[in-house]
Amino acid sequence: MKLAPLVSLVVGGLTGLGTAALQGRDFNSNDYYVLHLERDAQPDLIASRLGLKHEGPLGRLPGHHIFSTSKASDDIVRRAVQERRRKRSLGNTDVLDGVKSSHKQKLRAPMQKRVIPPPPAGLYPGKREDKPDAKAVERQKFVMGKLGISDPIFHEQWHLFNPVQVGHDVNVTDVWLSGVTGKNATVAIVDDGLDMYSNDLKPNYYAAGSYDFNDQRPEPRPTLSDDRHGTRCAGEVGAAKNDVCGIGVAYDSKIAGIRILSKLITDADEAEAMNYDFDHNDIYSCSWGPPDDGQSMDAPGILIKRAMLNGVQKGRANKGSIYVFASGNGAQSEDNCNFDGYTNSIYSITVGAIDRQGLHPYYSEKCSAQLVVTYSSGSGDAIHTTDVGENQCYNGHGGTSAAAPLAAGIFALALEVRPDLSWRDMQYIAMQSAVPVDLDTGDWQQTTIGKNFSHTFGYGKVDSYALVETAKTWKNVKPQAWFYSPWLHVNKDIPQGDKGLSVTFEVTKEMLKEANLERLEHVTVTMNVEHTRRGDLSVDLISPDNIVSHISATRKHDVSKEGYKDWTFMSVVHWGESGVGKWTLIVRDSIVNDDSGKFIDWHLKLWGESIDASKATLLPMPNEDDDADHDVTSTATLPAATTSLPPNPDATNTAATTAVPSDHPERPIKPSKTASDSVAAETGTEAAAAETTTAESSWLPSFLPTFGVSSSTQAWIYGSLGLIVAFCCGLGAWFWFMRRKQRLNNPRDDYEFEPLNADDGGDGLGAAGEKGNQRRRAGELYDAFAGGSEDEDENEMERDHFDIASRDDSDDEDEGRAVKNEKQSSRLLGEER
Ligand SMILES: *[C@@H]1O[C@H](CO)[C@@H](O)[C@H](O)[C@H]1NC(C)=O
Ligand SMILES: *[C@@H]1O[C@H](CO)[C@@H](O)[C@H](O)[C@H]1NC(C)=O
Ligand SMILES: *[C@@H]1O[C@H](CO)[C@@H](O)[C@H](O)[C@H]1NC(C)=O
Repeated sequence: MKLAPLVSLVVGGLTGLGTAALQGRDFNSNDYYVLHLERDAQPDLIASRLGLKHEGPLGRLPGHHIFSTSKASDDIVRRAVQERRRKRSLGNTDVLDGVKSSHKQKLRAPMQKRVIPPPPAGLYPGKREDKPDAKAVERQKFVMGKLGISDPIFHEQWHLFNPVQVGHDVNVTDVWLSGVTGKNATVAIVDDGLDMYSNDLKPNYYAAGSYDFNDQRPEPRPTLSDDRHGTRCAGEVGAAKNDVCGIGVAYDSKIAGIRILSKLITDADEAEAMNYDFDHNDIYSCSWGPPDDGQSMDAPGILIKRAMLNGVQKGRANKGSIYVFASGNGAQSEDNCNFDGYTNSIYSITVGAIDRQGLHPYYSEKCSAQLVVTYSSGSGDAIHTTDVGENQCYNGHGGTSAAAPLAAGIFALALEVRPDLSWRDMQYIAMQSAVPVDLDTGDWQQTTIGKNFSHTFGYGKVDSYALVETAKTWKNVKPQAWFYSPWLHVNKDIPQGDKGLSVTFEVTKEMLKEANLERLEHVTVTMNVEHTRRGDLSVDLISPDNIVSHISATRKHDVSKEGYKDWTFMSVVHWGESGVGKWTLIVRDSIVNDDSGKFIDWHLKLWGESIDASKATLLPMPNEDDDADHDVTSTATLPAATTSLPPNPDATNTAATTAVPSDHPERPIKPSKTASDSVAAETGTEAAAAETTTAESSWLPSFLPTFGVSSSTQAWIYGSLGLIVAFCCGLGAWFWFMRRKQRLNNPRDDYEFEPLNADDGGDGLGAAGEKGNQRRRAGELYDAFAGGSEDEDENEMERDHFDIASRDDSDDEDEGRAVKNEKQSSRLLGEER
């Protein structure tokens, strides 16, 4: 028993070493770079080559290191690495060849706390008369006596035991009575601090797992006047059973504080925070995200994405960190948690709110990525918890901010009985044990596995007893597997009105077998849509089993002209389905007005349990240009329009075969170009050259033979003009062919589905598929052959400008990320509501 603190001490010492670099960061006079290095690269040599100081590894992210140097306006690392790549062809070696990618860090506004917005006028007229149920009061007394609970506000903590609306609580008392109180489980509250000197939190405070990334010190003590959010969340999880305020739902769990929301921050620090002490911090409770204003469409930067993947792969001794996110409080503004890249990540458990009457509160966001809900403010009350100060309590904590930590605390109870649960086991258990609420409203639909799902309530509310019982006998699921469709090109205007534009993709049994995928958990759809008013769009995904995910919804305030740019939507609605059959995507522009748009392309990914555990692999770290890469790897039936080089006479027509979806397990390992990093593309002329080759070698579409241009030698003769003509004919014929084929297959459907699988030519041909990264790549190609160019500098300036306006801080990140609306550039400190 005495061992645990000792272990903590030792470990604390170790983690302390890892983050020594953090202390003493000086953003006023220094620049910081994160470099992703090859395994055998030597940080010290790279540092001295570039005149940098090696600060240390970036948290627990393999191969990532932080370097510093005195402040300069330009990106000296990028410049140097680029310079080096240009000379690489000379054949010599250089320590800089070990740099896979470089990310100059910029201070940006922190994510926003999910503060509860004021209710709409007249929502709660007067106070209800709440008469406690006599039997429930008896029961409450019994429980308190039995467990020795004498916390003064326990009576107000209706979310733990509700004697008024009986049954509207997290159903935890019998779990406690069975002895399960969160022992040996640790929840890290990633927020604006944690008052470790509160007498209610002190007994369970876990110092070694805590850190202040805003003020770069070991103790995440609240310092700003509104640094109260994290402390209140922490109280819900782990307030001690004593004579101060109330108790946490897991009152014997450990609570750590990780402070990131109180000041400007870099992506590097946020990434490090998400992996902080991940051997001992089991659960990361996150009640924050991009603004819930119904206009933002923002995802974490690449370093943070990598950190979260790293967390589920390596955290908790490889069982996976459990990330719990609040769904968001923007429901009144028609915000939807699928427009938030944290809540719609497959690695996070997204938790929405219900109020003490079991109703959907006005603020809680809906989406197909929401797994469960739990209690929070609404119907005239809120969550009663601990506050900043030695003996301070608070009775007004609310919003989905208060729901997420409550769920996190309940997951801690499950970890006490089953510390071996993986991050995916926890999602299964939450889904499996959730209890549907308010079945009359909330658009419930029965799923394939007999569960009810609602976009408003997810699979229902968390029931602690049911969840812990489910955990006790849970059989761990096999490792994750996944299947990726190729990019599916549409390039069609979206008709206004309810009908929409529908496209399909058929998944066969063989494809999933090949992908080692047995049954589904998450489904993601990455898509590109151009539209002059993004908020007019909505998207439904319909599975082969006819289960519907509203993966995107209209948003009245979203006037962005950016459309969807490689945006990934997520759904948990298809959990348990086989995935085999026809998947349909319907894109609607249901608001009839002058604003209109075009559906460019999409890409379906199915995630789930593997068939054969021994064949499972770990998903490689993401790169920002993965989607673009996919275009290249999965095909190329069409010429890259930028290439005016003659086709390779030896080229073979690989189109037909490569059109087969590039699925798992091999898929994510990229072709020779890189098993490396996106920024290889950023700095890599070599990468650009490699792509050219790909495009060249497979550039004759398979359909061309029909038109007498079968031999590439002939193509040679025609010369480049002839080629263009041939290509155009081919393209037309292809369209015609596909349209016809579609009509034959689906005489009633007037949609089109064009698995052209190659769009590198697309952007050159015009408006279609103009993705930032492809544009960039063209620039690089130019760069590769011509050396430094004004073009490039211009791009860079654009990028720099962009970076200031967004929270991007790495050069590879701006690619493919939705441009943030202006709102975000003004997202400054103190703006939190
Ligand atoms: C709540 O817990 C009790 C045991 O205390 C259990 O009998 C009941 O089934 C639980 N509620 C639900 C909905 O599972
Ligand atoms: C607590 O957890 C650690 C691993 O995190 C484990 O080694 C230890 O046995 C656990 N202790 C108890 C009492 O469950
Ligand atoms: C799902 O909802 C239907 C009513 O809509 C209900 O009859 C059924 O029992 C529910 N199933 C579960 C598992 O809650």
